[in-house]
Amino acid sequence: MDAVTTVRADPAFRADVLAGLAAPIPAVPARWFYDHRGSKLFEAITRLPEYYPTRTETALLERHSGEIAALSARNAAIIEFGSGSSAKTPILLRAVAPAAYVPIDISGDFLRESAAALQAEFPALPIHPVEADFTGSLALPEAIAGLPRLGFFPGSTIGNLVARTAVDLLRAMKETLGEGSRLLIGMDRIKSVEVLLAAYDDAAGVTAAFNLNLLHRINTELDGDIPVEAFRHRAIWNDEMSRIEMHLEAVRDVAFTVSGQRFSFGAGETIHTENSHKYGHRDSRLMLRAAGWGVIEEWTDEKQWFSIILAEAEPPRFAP
Ligand code: AVJ
Repeated sequence: MDAVTTVRADPAFRADVLAGLAAPIPAVPARWFYDHRGSKLFEAITRLPEYYPTRTETALLERHSGEIAALSARNAAIIEFGSGSSAKTPILLRAVAPAAYVPIDISGDFLRESAAALQAEFPALPIHPVEADFTGSLALPEAIAGLPRLGFFPGSTIGNLVARTAVDLLRAMKETLGEGSRLLIGMDRIKSVEVLLAAYDDAAGVTAAFNLNLLHRINTELDGDIPVEAFRHRAIWNDEMSRIEMHLEAVRDVAFTVSGQRFSFGAGETIHTENSHKYGHRDSRLMLRAAGWGVIEEWTDEKQWFSIILAEAEPPRFAP
């Protein structure tokens, strides 16, 4: 046996970082935030006073779980996309009392951990975890064949995607779940810029640490020597695109190496690390409709800061 332990980097991470840093507008996809430390930091973000989405959505689910259950088929299978370690899932499972639960996640470790925790809480519920990338359509477990399906995609995770890829994803979900299936999706709303900026640039600096953690991850996993203190967290509102953008901005001229490749940034240049799109009432519906999902019901809070939408996969219709 070889005594040397090698940390094997995900080749897709390396490819995205090397191509992204060399791009005309340097950017790294937001999915790479979520290494172990990044996932912990995100959990801390969800508890921040400024970060309204998680608590608003959780309250909406609690308040309306009875209606959601009444609008859902008995004997349904709940399919959760990007299950992570969601605290919202038990609310839905208790209300709907599904026949099966299928969490789908690319991170196998996280998936198994949270599936085990849920199994302890719901000992009688058949749980069938699927380790997969859900950006394309995929085959659901044989065990849920014939059951009505309810997809669950909370957290406004859809907001990480630009409209084109968001619609691709929603269409893939429709293909995975099948015609007549339903989807319960959380979408963050447009609101005052002050509230939005505070949620993505909190006073305690947790979001800054979350953003900067990407550089630590690159250094550790991709043999990088990025001086992390040469970058600072920036959150900006892009009104034209209706989104919060997160960037890492060079505070001075800086040069570094990643996996043997050399990069340099001038003071003020940024690496674009995340988009978080916000939707108007009609925007969310239009996007769902564009992917073949018809809205059945929508619930929002008093301030209309967040909404959860129940949609149905529609059969193709003739024009108009
Ligand atoms: C997990 C994508 C929904 O966009 O609000 C939180 C991630 N980034 N703070 C979001 C995030 C910075 C979050 N999503």
